[in-house]
Amino acid sequence: MKIHKSLGEFIVEKQSDFPHAKGELSALLSAIKLSAKIVNREINKAGLADITGASGVENIQGEQQQKLDMFANEIFKNALIARGEVCGIASEEEDNYVFFDNKNSRNGNYVVLMDPLDGSSNIDVNVSVGTIFSIYRRVSPADGPVEIEDFLQVGRKQVAAGYVIYGSSTMLVFTTGNGVHGFTYDPSIGMFCLSHESLTIPKSGKIYSLNEGNYIKFPLGVKKYLKYCQEEDESTNRPFTSRYIGSLVADFHRNLLKGGIYIYPQTAQAPSGKLRLLYECNPIAFLAEQAGALATDGYNPILDLKPTELHERVPFFTGSPEMMETAHQFMTDFKEDR
Ligand code: AHG
Ligand code: MN
Ligand code: MN
Repeated sequence: MKIHKSLGEFIVEKQSDFPHAKGELSALLSAIKLSAKIVNREINKAGLADITGASGVENIQGEQQQKLDMFANEIFKNALIARGEVCGIASEEEDNYVFFDNKNSRNGNYVVLMDPLDGSSNIDVNVSVGTIFSIYRRVSPADGPVEIEDFLQVGRKQVAAGYVIYGSSTMLVFTTGNGVHGFTYDPSIGMFCLSHESLTIPKSGKIYSLNEGNYIKFPLGVKKYLKYCQEEDESTNRPFTSRYIGSLVADFHRNLLKGGIYIYPQTAQAPSGKLRLLYECNPIAFLAEQAGALATDGYNPILDLKPTELHERVPFFTGSPEMMETAHQFMTDFKEDR
């Protein structure tokens, strides 16, 4: 029987990659690891306990919060407060950023931005959901409160990012800028074990993932690209195949392993799309680039966009580089003036 390296061992082994981190980043990732185990436990009994369904509360973006959205938010927040490395968080489920104003945390060097539960409409129907996290060094002075600027940093400044996918198995996938590594949770020993070292996305693939129900609202470039995906052409292995789960983490994870493209475009009604730059697109874009994929708003790299507000949305295109190049070509060739 093969014994896999644990996430903890892997991080300790790679610590020398972060000369400035002095073990802080590994402590921080431990908090995320612990929270993921707790959320995983709750999700696994979702049908039994009274934790499915809506909470009756809307978040600041006008979306109905699910009970598990709020539960996951509290678990991750409390685990991060309990360590000293993080001085504040921003979350999809919090109206504003939160300063950890306690003795232990207020001088911490890092901020964490998160989507505590991604794909939450899938919980009640037993379909994969996830958690997405993004870590930056704070830019405000360490002896004062955390500031909005700490959270509105350009995505390229991320020091680490990752996601947990609660799927047919639970996995934690992360990057610190030295490749993307995946760890599968073994519930019998309660550990995340290295199962996917140095993940790279295939240069091309056969899968396209987007909510085709929105077709009529898509920009012309996306409509044309979609039709291209559906055309027959032996030399380019078309038609491609359509796969869409409706949990970004799960759709991205599948395409990362198999090769594919994920698109959540802007529409006339939602000119910035749906996905959130800080909690969803930036961390996924960091992982994508580290795995050899591209991540853009249809034209420009996500990681180069300067955020202007916490809950900002952005059109999102990510996937295998060759497929992305074709999609970009369509976006440029059929650019509309709005
Ligand atoms: P969240 O559950 O965190 O609000 O995110 C849902 C997001 C994303 O995970 C998914 O890809 C997308 O919404 C699905 O949106 P549609 O239902 O509009 O396709
Ligand atoms: Mn989400
Ligand atoms: Mn969410």
